[in-house]
Amino acid sequence: MDAIFIFTFYLLLSFAAAVISAAGGNWRAEIMHREHPSSPLSTASHKTPRERFVAAVQRSHLRARAIAHHIEVAAVNVGARQFTSSVHSGVGEYLMNIAIGTPPQIFTTIMDTGSDLVWTQCDPCNECYPQNDAVFNPAASSTYQLLSCTNPLCLELPSTACTGANACEYGYGYGDGSITEGYFSSDSVSFPASVGTVPNIAFGCGVANEGNFGAADGLVGLGQGPVSLVSQLRNANIEPIFSYCLVGIYSTSTSPLLLGNASTVGIAFTPLVANPINPTFYYAGLTGITVNGAQIDYPANSFAVNATDGTGGLIVDSGTTLTYLVQEVYTPVLQAFEALVTYPRVDGSSIGLDLCVSPPSADADYPNIVYQFANGSNFEVPGNNVFLLVDPPSNTTCLSIAGIQGFSILGNIHQQDHMMVFDLAAQQIGFKSVACNTL
Ligand SMILES: *[C@@H]1O[C@H](CO)[C@@H](O)[C@H](O)[C@H]1NC(C)=O
Ligand SMILES: *[C@@H]1O[C@H](CO)[C@@H](O)[C@H](O)[C@H]1NC(C)=O
Ligand SMILES: *[C@@H]1O[C@H](CO)[C@@H](O)[C@H](O)[C@H]1NC(C)=O
Ligand SMILES: *[C@@H]1O[C@H](CO)[C@@H](O)[C@H](O)[C@H]1NC(C)=O
Repeated sequence: MDAIFIFTFYLLLSFAAAVISAAGGNWRAEIMHREHPSSPLSTASHKTPRERFVAAVQRSHLRARAIAHHIEVAAVNVGARQFTSSVHSGVGEYLMNIAIGTPPQIFTTIMDTGSDLVWTQCDPCNECYPQNDAVFNPAASSTYQLLSCTNPLCLELPSTACTGANACEYGYGYGDGSITEGYFSSDSVSFPASVGTVPNIAFGCGVANEGNFGAADGLVGLGQGPVSLVSQLRNANIEPIFSYCLVGIYSTSTSPLLLGNASTVGIAFTPLVANPINPTFYYAGLTGITVNGAQIDYPANSFAVNATDGTGGLIVDSGTTLTYLVQEVYTPVLQAFEALVTYPRVDGSSIGLDLCVSPPSADADYPNIVYQFANGSNFEVPGNNVFLLVDPPSNTTCLSIAGIQGFSILGNIHQQDHMMVFDLAAQQIGFKSVACNTL
């Protein structure tokens, strides 16, 4: 019902859109958690809330390992593009809708800030996995084009080959072993329920796709690399900016992903930190952490990016569920929470987390954590997003932070209920607290 309604609405809007310039554009895509009731990846029908939470923790650990692998491979292959960009971070936690072609064909794709390529399953499929929507049919789009081997964006891809027809064939692998292969192409992109189209967006027409994509129709890369959707906005004279607001794993709401120039009212910004070895990821500069108002003591430079080998730093990532702090910071942070949270302890090893408790009621109180970013902006995570409900019937909650070696990640649980702005033009990242299910 909903899909038919949105599609009809969309057809009406796209007629009006034909006369509206794309410059300075501002689009809204709907995003949902992969466990949202209408997500093609939801496991709600056959898993308990606890099982779904534990699976999310396991996926988070896998993603953190995939990013670590990417960083390790890049560190030993500095300067060799085909290596530094050949392993991407893996499959994300949120889905977004996007339409490709004229007339638009609508897809539900994984949104990923840790990789760049935009791709969808494409006819004629050699090896496609099952998905809910029809696969993209290039022959049905009047604006579809194959890109040639000499196209500048083809040259940005890590792994390409030229066919007889001079078409840019690509292969793109993720850190968890997932892969998409096909024809690098271009077409108009639009968003259901938003006016206007972005012309000539390069994307992978994937004819051989395999891995942990569930039944999602493909993936939209939102990293900083040249082939990502946000970077390509520049080619249409649109500000390379996006923002999103994330809801939690048990939420039945969707929320917005805004592309192009967006309002910055009330947003606190901090400069993006450059990492020339790992240019896709979004690094922010952390200058301090407080737990319940008390400053945490940790070695200086724990969050510095090493520009020689690309290790270190704090990555802001939508596809990693937990927050991971380098061990020398994690240890004192964990100790602070252990001292402050006095509810009965529960063994968290079967959940994959270090500090779990069983409070007497579902609305227990937990200390907050504040991440102090360069340029004076404070990112506050309230207690109920620091301790996550694992198992609604038992009220068991766990600290949603873990330790890691070599670099840190600000994960999506911490980001929930913040408007997060990624501004590639001004090279800054911003945020403000907001109830995402109301937007
Ligand atoms: C972006 O939006 C602001 C107000 O929201 C406006 O003043 C500015 O001109 C816009 N910039 C572009 C490039 O559209
Ligand atoms: C730094 O802070 C100042 C003052 O709040 C602000 O005007 C400026 O835009 C910020 N710079 C960045 C890069 O965030
Ligand atoms: C940065 O990485 C290089 C190469 O791995 C290493 O030799 C150097 O000690 C590192 N610098 C710091 C400050 O850790
Ligand atoms: C969980 O919390 C609710 C109130 O929020 C309470 O009624 C219930 O007894 C608690 N369950 C357990 C197992 O403590």
